[in-house]
Amino acid sequence: MGWNSWNYFAGRVTDKDIRDSADQIVASGMRDAGYLYVNIDDTWEGERDANGVLHSNEKFPDMKALADYVHSKGLKIGIYSSPGPKTCAGFEGSLGHEEQDAQLYASWGIDYLKYDLCSFHTVMQAKAPDDKAAQMRLMIAAYDKMGKALKTTGRPIVYSFCQYGWDSVWEWAPSVGGNLWRTTGDVSANWDRIYDLLSQQAGLEGYAGPGHWNDPDMLEVGNGRLSLAENRSHFSMWAMLAAPLLAGNDLPHMTPEIKAILTNREVIAIDQDRLGKQGSRVYSDGEVEVWMRPLAGGALAVAVFNVGSDRLSTHPFHLSLTKLGLDGPLTGKNLWTGDKVTLTNHQPIELASHDILLVRVASPR
Ligand code: GAL
Repeated sequence: MGWNSWNYFAGRVTDKDIRDSADQIVASGMRDAGYLYVNIDDTWEGERDANGVLHSNEKFPDMKALADYVHSKGLKIGIYSSPGPKTCAGFEGSLGHEEQDAQLYASWGIDYLKYDLCSFHTVMQAKAPDDKAAQMRLMIAAYDKMGKALKTTGRPIVYSFCQYGWDSVWEWAPSVGGNLWRTTGDVSANWDRIYDLLSQQAGLEGYAGPGHWNDPDMLEVGNGRLSLAENRSHFSMWAMLAAPLLAGNDLPHMTPEIKAILTNREVIAIDQDRLGKQGSRVYSDGEVEVWMRPLAGGALAVAVFNVGSDRLSTHPFHLSLTKLGLDGPLTGKNLWTGDKVTLTNHQPIELASHDILLVRVASPR
């Protein structure tokens, strides 16, 4: 869990934005709710000197001092690079300097690396034209190389793969040191895109587990024109997916409603549940989807989610406990209202468009 600069600041991010965001993570209570990593995304990179040592650019005058500042707040700090010659925003990548860069990150005190394929794709195509299998082997080798370089530093550094879910990354990422891997292209702060990313997660639940996670991309909670229901559903579903929770909003101007969503500890507890099992979509009926996630100690999270644009997309929607393999009645807690709820078979449930009912059921059996 943490925060990343890209979704709100993109290429404008500066040293001051990172410091201000770290301050806000503490002041808002987000750190105490579990948000630990403050991640600098693309556009911090400067030029290499004659010895190949990479320097940060003028927006980031002193990376070691910045890392010390973030650490002084009880937080950790992340950085970004690419296995290619250039990052996606056209800054210096790590190709040919993997060990050197890993050592540099460790010397600054970096705790997390997001490694974004970007221009390495062109390298793959040039080295193995028309041979997709050979291109894939080159990509895996590139991720492996940086993974080994990070390990050699002796500093624990979380290793995040960003190659948009190509070549079934979930099948090979853990074997080359990946702690999390993007399963899709980029998120954006609009409902259709968020739902599109969510839909691509169904079926990947078998690949996630403690220390290695599917990453449906960072949170857009608080960004763009998402309604409160959409923000709630986005956050709830990322928790159902055991997804990395990397907020990406404008922290100094966060509204109380957005803060309440991002710091809902009971929803965070679903995300961080120690069993580490990703939830799955059990069934859908009309435009209502029902997802379930097993939790430690025999507990369960059940999400009933109106993905349609109408209030009652199935007239009315009735929850089937039978389809979930459960017997009712089940008592639980509505994690957005705090109310006690009883779920029964064939129970009618009415949800506003894009809204969600997220229930924690203590132990159904
Ligand atoms: C994209 C990546 C984004 C962001 C961006 C920076 O490839 O998916 O999350 O890191 O590059 O240029």
